[in-house]
Amino acid sequence: MSGQIFLQCDALSKSYGGVDALKSASLAIRENEVVGLVGDNGAGKSTLINILSGKQQADAGTIRIGGQAVRIRKPADARALGIETIYQDNSTVPTMSVARNLFVGREPLAWSILGLGPLDSSRMAADAAAALAEVGLHLRSPDALVGELSGGQRQGVAIARAMYFRSKMIILDEPTNHLSVKETDKVIAFVQTLRGQGKCGIFISHNLHHVFESCHRVVGMARGEIVLDKPVDATSIEEIHDIL
Ligand SMILES: Nc1ncnc2c1ncn2[C@@H]1O[C@H](COP(=O)(O)OP(=O)(O)OP(=O)(O)O)[C@@H](O)[C@H]1O
Ligand SMILES: [Mg+2]
Repeated sequence: MSGQIFLQCDALSKSYGGVDALKSASLAIRENEVVGLVGDNGAGKSTLINILSGKQQADAGTIRIGGQAVRIRKPADARALGIETIYQDNSTVPTMSVARNLFVGREPLAWSILGLGPLDSSRMAADAAAALAEVGLHLRSPDALVGELSGGQRQGVAIARAMYFRSKMIILDEPTNHLSVKETDKVIAFVQTLRGQGKCGIFISHNLHHVFESCHRVVGMARGEIVLDKPVDATSIEEIHDIL
């Protein structure tokens, strides 16, 4: 069912002052595969995915995408490589409209000279409405400010953005924190759809039930190291509890 390796990282390390947050972590993720990344607070999960999404730089190690070595220096680099990241709460800008959030950094222009020109607002509004409807989010208007939306609706905007730009890999770092049961179910259902669309993902959660419901592989981290890497069918919540 899984395909070619999409992303491979080898021996990634990162220290903050005296803290070794990530110690030589290696991981491969295939197309059509969603990996659940689990581990205790401070295990290094966010550090690992922040390096893949360009929020932080590794001190050492390599990242390859489709077999090619890549450098991810900033979030825009990750996006250009097809990696979109959805954070617990800060992947959208509250003071901007839904439509602007969808296109931030990648706004279509009505016309341009040497890449400069006015934003194509009507196209942004129309495409935003379609992209939101696509992920089952029905908002009053794409002109609403994101700051006025619920946590689940904000996650919906971030998900719509990933789908609109056809990201190959979607990283979700505890996307369901602070969400209602209903909103959480929507995010889990979204994670479950990734496989059938040729996409891959990394889903970080402290809720092992959510991980077992939506992921194909579980990767466990402890003290900056990867200590478990198994298909969900080959492990259990009990085993993961014992290891982590
Ligand atoms: N910006 C930073 N500055 C200093 N130390 C940091 C920074 N980010 C992370 N750390 C440290 O690195 C270690 C790993 O943190 P990380 O955020 O990756 O853990 P995590 O597995 O995501 O935990 P949680 O489940 O609580 O989100 C921790 O000891 C943390 O204190
Ligand atoms: Mg974290």
